[in-house]
Amino acid sequence: MSGQADTEAQEQNYTMGYNEEFQVLLRRRSAANNASQLLPRLSSGMRLLDVGCGPGTISMGLADVVAPGEFIGVDIEESQIEMARAAASAGGHKNAEFEVADAVNLPFESNSFDVVHAHATVMHVPDTSAAVAEMMRVLRPGGIISCRDMILSSCFTEPRHGDFEIAWQVFGKLLSANGGHPEMGKEIKGVLHAAGFSDIAVSASFECFAAKEDVDFFHGFAQGWFFSDQTMAAAEKIGVASAEDMDRWRGLLDQWQADPAAFSTIAWGAALGVKPG
Ligand SMILES: C[S@@+](CC[C@H](N)C(=O)[O-])C[C@H]1O[C@@H](n2cnc3c(N)ncnc32)[C@H](O)[C@@H]1O
Repeated sequence: MSGQADTEAQEQNYTMGYNEEFQVLLRRRSAANNASQLLPRLSSGMRLLDVGCGPGTISMGLADVVAPGEFIGVDIEESQIEMARAAASAGGHKNAEFEVADAVNLPFESNSFDVVHAHATVMHVPDTSAAVAEMMRVLRPGGIISCRDMILSSCFTEPRHGDFEIAWQVFGKLLSANGGHPEMGKEIKGVLHAAGFSDIAVSASFECFAAKEDVDFFHGFAQGWFFSDQTMAAAEKIGVASAEDMDRWRGLLDQWQADPAAFSTIAWGAALGVKPG
């Protein structure tokens, strides 16, 4: 992904950025793995909006389930929309369209969607209430919202090597410094309740990295993305970690990868709600 897109992401305070080192994580995602709380509620013919769709790896499965209903994916970043469009075209997902839009200002009529989905998006929007209010506005009465976000304090990397756990906390501080919400996965029920949604159903799950290939993936992802020069510079800039800290954690991550007991998780919380009729 372009350096320009990453610079713009920093200006827009989006912590993850759009570089290839982060995209590898999004490419592992699918509707089956990342939207299982929503899939049983979907049916053919529904009109579905995916907010913060990124490159569309979850979107494609959602689009297939509602086909021939209309699927629209939106993201604030043009490069992500281009990737999602290319994936939809290559995969023959004819009912899927993608456009650039901000979650807090959705360019759609009120009461016009059956379902609004947002995966790992609300946690990055500084004004969470504004985003959820917009999602509620575009939903029809009786329509369903589905949000899934990280629970940073429940993520872990075991066995513990040195003070590596602190690197997770640094990630949380970076998210917060950018207006993000590292614990959104457990706050989302309250956010939907405050917005006026009813029949809220919540669930929590772990994305596990324990098989050798998944440990190797997590190691490569963390080395390539979290321990990139860009993230290190951001951590130093807000005073949450020094270059020495990052170098030490890099070495500890190598030790962890080589440990036969290596097991890491990303923790997620999800909530479904219904717009009152
Ligand atoms: C972590 S990615 C998740 C992408 C995808 N939903 C997934 O889980 O694979 C978060 C996405 O939200 C987008 N995003 C962040 N703030 C946004 C906003 N205010 N409006 C729309 N999209 C936003 C980012 O550009 C990014 O593509």
